[in-house]
Amino acid sequence: MSLERYAAYFPPVLHFGSGCRAQAKAVLQECCQPEQSRVFFVCSKRVRQLDITAALLKDLDGLIAGAQIGISHDPTLETVEELRAAAHQCQANVFLALGGGSVIDASKTAAFLMPSQASIRESFLGQAALPSRGLPLVALPTTAGTGAEITKNAVLTDVAGDFKGSIKSPGMVPTAALVDPDFTLSLPPSITADTGMDALTQAIESYVSSGANAMTQALAAEAVALLLRYLPQAWQHGEDVHARSKTAEGSMLSALAFSQSGLGAVHGLAHPIGHRFNIPHGRTCAILLAPVMAWNLPAVEADFNRLAAAAGLADARELLKAVRALCETMTIPTDFSAWGMTTDDHDYIIKNCRSGSMKANPRPMTDKDVAEMLSALTGKA
Ligand SMILES: [Fe+2]
Repeated sequence: MSLERYAAYFPPVLHFGSGCRAQAKAVLQECCQPEQSRVFFVCSKRVRQLDITAALLKDLDGLIAGAQIGISHDPTLETVEELRAAAHQCQANVFLALGGGSVIDASKTAAFLMPSQASIRESFLGQAALPSRGLPLVALPTTAGTGAEITKNAVLTDVAGDFKGSIKSPGMVPTAALVDPDFTLSLPPSITADTGMDALTQAIESYVSSGANAMTQALAAEAVALLLRYLPQAWQHGEDVHARSKTAEGSMLSALAFSQSGLGAVHGLAHPIGHRFNIPHGRTCAILLAPVMAWNLPAVEADFNRLAAAAGLADARELLKAVRALCETMTIPTDFSAWGMTTDDHDYIIKNCRSGSMKANPRPMTDKDVAEMLSALTGKA
């Protein structure tokens, strides 16, 4: 399952650790040399209210040309269109995205498509040529995490088309990522659980993905070890700086891995399920992770054994047990019955799950296989 020939696309600048947000000013100025930086700043309403955000903005005083405060979860194509228009309006030459996956994905797409005359929808649907590069973007994640600060794609919702999909280009890799765990200290337990399980899912899927290689497996294995060990502590004691830092590091390593290798069936299924029932992405992944691991097990038992060893566990079955126990600890449901999923929903999910993630799953899943898995997860088989 490990490729012998591969390439990698990482952000050219990466800072990690408590307090590294102090690098933001220098990084933003460096991005625009020799021009003066005109920053378009994007963040959520919750994050804007934090004291450390106020201090960061004070430090950037004079560089901010415009801002958008408040981005909906699961950003739509219209949201991105508005962001791009606002950034043009203030003649921004660099984006600063401070937030979770929704803020960073919407900002990445707007920044990348700044030079394009086509609508965001045409670009998203592949009906218009994509630029080779857009405006530089500096990403500061406030969750740990989706990995959006590292990846070359963004997940957006097409309301008119009734689906969630990805736009992808090497030109969308952020110019710089500043992963400062201090932003995660104020996360409520439910977001810690959802985003942490997204990071864990991404690391496990990356490790056994058909696009995995020695580099991504090394990163993913360390990510799994860190997340299994520290996520429960970060969830239970949100103020624990060490647990938050190790969870953020696990999330970053997970993103460095899956951004190169691709993912698997959990992510293939999570997009249509999350869209149809309006479930947070990480929660959808958390519910799907153990069932998909169990289904993949016959095809990747040796890989899971190695991954288990890296996390200090005996074997693949112990790894699966550890994932189930973590979900139970963080009170994550074991199926989608609470959202009213019925067999009537299966056709929509089957029709919309055939993404690149699904293709990278190590054990091919037919429509019948998907239907059987969904039946076990509707709670009304
Ligand atoms: Fe994810």
